[in-house]
Amino acid sequence: MNQLAQDSFTPFPGISAQVYSRADFEAVRDIVYDIAGIVLPAGKATLVYSRLAPLVRDSGQQTFSRFIEFIKKDDTARRKTINALTTNHTFFYRESHHFEHLASHVRPLLLDKIRSRQPVRIWSAGCSTGEELYSLTMTLFGPDKAAARPFLDGNLAILATDLADHAVAGAKAATYPFEALKDVPPALTNTWVKREGDLAKIAPELCAKIHVKRLNLLGEWPMNKQFDVIFCRNVMIYFDQPTKDRLVARFADQLLPGGHLYIGHSERVAGPAQVVLTLVGSTIYRKDRM
Ligand SMILES: C[S@@+](CC[C@H](N)C(=O)[O-])C[C@H]1O[C@@H](n2cnc3c(N)ncnc32)[C@H](O)[C@@H]1O
Repeated sequence: MNQLAQDSFTPFPGISAQVYSRADFEAVRDIVYDIAGIVLPAGKATLVYSRLAPLVRDSGQQTFSRFIEFIKKDDTARRKTINALTTNHTFFYRESHHFEHLASHVRPLLLDKIRSRQPVRIWSAGCSTGEELYSLTMTLFGPDKAAARPFLDGNLAILATDLADHAVAGAKAATYPFEALKDVPPALTNTWVKREGDLAKIAPELCAKIHVKRLNLLGEWPMNKQFDVIFCRNVMIYFDQPTKDRLVARFADQLLPGGHLYIGHSERVAGPAQVVLTLVGSTIYRKDRM
């Protein structure tokens, strides 16, 4: 029994254990952990119930235990279950010091690279609905479209990935309530965002440099090139320490020497990757040049 199973189990009052029991919660918890690495402590039993109850109902299964047997065999239902148990909270310009660092320290290096016709690769890993992705891309391009030409015309590719289908769809749509961009410097939104009523649409020429894909960070990574910059923020908080350590080591391998890794405010690099990743700012790491 792992430490999580020892936590208290507090299902909804009024929910019969024949519909949703501790064993059902633990079965869901194990499936989500095995597939996505997401840890669901017993304190999340109510959240699991409320997120999955509509899926249980729609599937025609009467109880969670029957639903669990069903998703073990049905890939689509299992995928919807995982989608429903991800937490996708995000917002534009979250942890603004990362974007300030990107603009002042990394952008000049990448501008030099792209001007000298070298490729530039950036990855927003666990991008949710794209607010981080577009915050970083607008920052990279800067407020002056003419000055952004080397990026727009050059060998730049920005990859954004998430496990959840609805998150990937949101990031691809590149359309947000205008109010959601209130923390982005107006100089950037003036250049890269078109207002249509209450909506903000990200400029198509900026989107043209972006590829949004579904990717499970625990699975195979199909990318064969290394990255100059990786953002993976507020994703590892859902993982246990061995998963975090393995993931950070993979990010370190996937970074070019001199490349930067940005992680969330409550996260830190531990494990084998510490040898090659140097802390250069608050939750900002640079891979040592060999
Ligand atoms: C809280 S959001 C963070 C979004 C953004 N990076 C930020 O900091 O605002 C966490 C995201 O990680 C994704 N995620 C969780 N487990 C994942 C996994 N195993 N592979 C890929 N993405 C995962 C979730 O779907 C969710 O959209």
